[in-house]
Amino acid sequence: MTELRTSRMGWEKELAPVYILGIETSCDETAAAVVRDGEVAVSNIIASQISIHRRYGGVVPEVASRQHLEKITDVVEAALTGAGLCLADLSGVAVTVGPGLIGALLVGVAAAKAYAYALKIPLLPVHHLEAHLFANFLTHPELEPPLVTLIVSGGHTSLVLVRERLAYEILGATRDDAAGEAFDKVARLLGLPYPGGPNLDVLATGGDPRAIAFPRAWLGGNSLDFSFSGLKTAVRNYLIHDHAARPEDVAASFQAAVAEVLVEKLLTAARTTGVGQIALAGGVAANSAIRSLLLSRAKEEALACFIPPRELCTDNAAMVACAGYHYFLAQRHAPLEQEAFANYPLVPRTDSFPRRHALLTEQ
Ligand code: KG4
Ligand code: ZN
Repeated sequence: MTELRTSRMGWEKELAPVYILGIETSCDETAAAVVRDGEVAVSNIIASQISIHRRYGGVVPEVASRQHLEKITDVVEAALTGAGLCLADLSGVAVTVGPGLIGALLVGVAAAKAYAYALKIPLLPVHHLEAHLFANFLTHPELEPPLVTLIVSGGHTSLVLVRERLAYEILGATRDDAAGEAFDKVARLLGLPYPGGPNLDVLATGGDPRAIAFPRAWLGGNSLDFSFSGLKTAVRNYLIHDHAARPEDVAASFQAAVAEVLVEKLLTAARTTGVGQIALAGGVAANSAIRSLLLSRAKEEALACFIPPRELCTDNAAMVACAGYHYFLAQRHAPLEQEAFANYPLVPRTDSFPRRHALLTEQ
């Protein structure tokens, strides 16, 4: 490796820029991107499979894997062309190794291994939730931990204390449905097509968020865990019993209930840990009601608040490459035997939960 880096470690700034190729195939987007020095997405290519999965009303795992396989090489080539670079310019290949659909992940991991092996450059194994959170570091390279991040996606709702760039503690998580899952299920109840979340967001713009008082699951005290299945059932019951309900009002009221719980728990986590910086990440962070409520509440509480632009909230490979850059700096390389993992905790559970308990009882 020729690059002598980095300014963050206090050394003289660079001999050459570090270009990391990121690859993301954990669900239904085949994505590749090149990020320079962990700060600039010089290309960010996404081949979406939405039109294919829409006819089934959701992601069909086998179809997703096949699509990734068909698209991956073209998408990587487009990322390089878009960046005006060739393979030899790359310093490392970052890839999402989990969690996600196993067949889908395997396509990205196999491709990344092939590039790393052929180019003799490091393979950088990134966790999908970690990648989401790094969308914030990509957008704000000056951001220095600690920060408390709420990662809300189709599969996860996690409150994470970021102590350092690659050191995390889980403060809270959902006990049942993930926030994105709740959006998608309620969207389906409202007859909206896949992908439900963004369609519900659009429908809600014409509704009254105070029209229906849907329940908020606080789970007692200062709990930092979440639960969305009761809310989903409440919406279903409401729709069964009140046929005259305006779908716009149901969407807006449901969204307001989710937004309030997510935002208040993120603020509680900031208070509990005494950390003054908060961030949002993951596909659900694209939601307009959640974004605006968080910004206004953070202002009231005098917290520094970071939210990536919408296109970096939903799955993309620029966030993977940004996280991979920090693996590169830390020399955390993966062997070519690297596996993909459908279930993959961000931090080992044994580490996380005792520490989390200690943290909360310190108060
Ligand atoms: O992070 P992501 O792209 O993929 C996963 O890692 O799961 O998140 C996808 C989730 C889906 O549940 C989708 O409905 C939701 O994010 N989502 C939204 C919005 N955009 C995406 N939910 C609410 N409002 C949105 N604008
Ligand atoms: Zn995601």
